[in-house]
Amino acid sequence: MNKKIIVYFTYTNHTKMIAEKIKEKLNCDILEIRTMIPYSEDYDKVVNDEQNREASNYLPEIQNINIDLNQYDEIILGTPVWWYRPAPAIRTFLTQNDLSGKTIKPYATNAGWIGRTFQEIKLLCPRSKVEEGMNIVFKSYSDQLVTNHQDIENWIKTL
Ligand SMILES: Cc1cc2nc3c(=O)[nH]c(=O)nc-3n(C[C@H](O)[C@H](O)[C@H](O)COP(=O)(O)O)c2cc1C
Repeated sequence: MNKKIIVYFTYTNHTKMIAEKIKEKLNCDILEIRTMIPYSEDYDKVVNDEQNREASNYLPEIQNINIDLNQYDEIILGTPVWWYRPAPAIRTFLTQNDLSGKTIKPYATNAGWIGRTFQEIKLLCPRSKVEEGMNIVFKSYSDQLVTNHQDIENWIKTL
């Protein structure tokens, strides 16, 4: 059987909520990516700062992951969409880890503007088999899901 791990980053917990739902169903390992320097609690400040940084392709330092990824065949990868792209911490994770030969099953939580998030994940995992991403939409400035619960449950069944 394929050994799976959920790897995710979250700022306002939407991506975490989905990660935990997946964990509940699959009973697999889970890893939260955290930046060395935590983001401000001021949401609008983070949105503005990140818009200004967006073009620079910066990669924030992330905390040591303390887990041997070699033991996994599949990574279920969760990211919020930040300025039409995967969150920078996820870009750091994908840049720093060799995921050759693994299957990556991405999902992205967002407010309806997913942009090039899934294309960029593919580019960052050139030697992995990256499956079609699951787009999970929450209402802007809210924890309310727009994507149908059943669609999420159905997708989780495919994992
Ligand atoms: C810095 C920043 C940039 C964002 N950019 C986008 C965006 O480009 N498109 C979009 O649909 N939502 C955008 N959002 C909204 C988040 O993607 C959405 O709320 C997501 O579900 C948050 O996930 P989290 O709670 O796991 O952090 C942005 C949020 C932040 C904080």
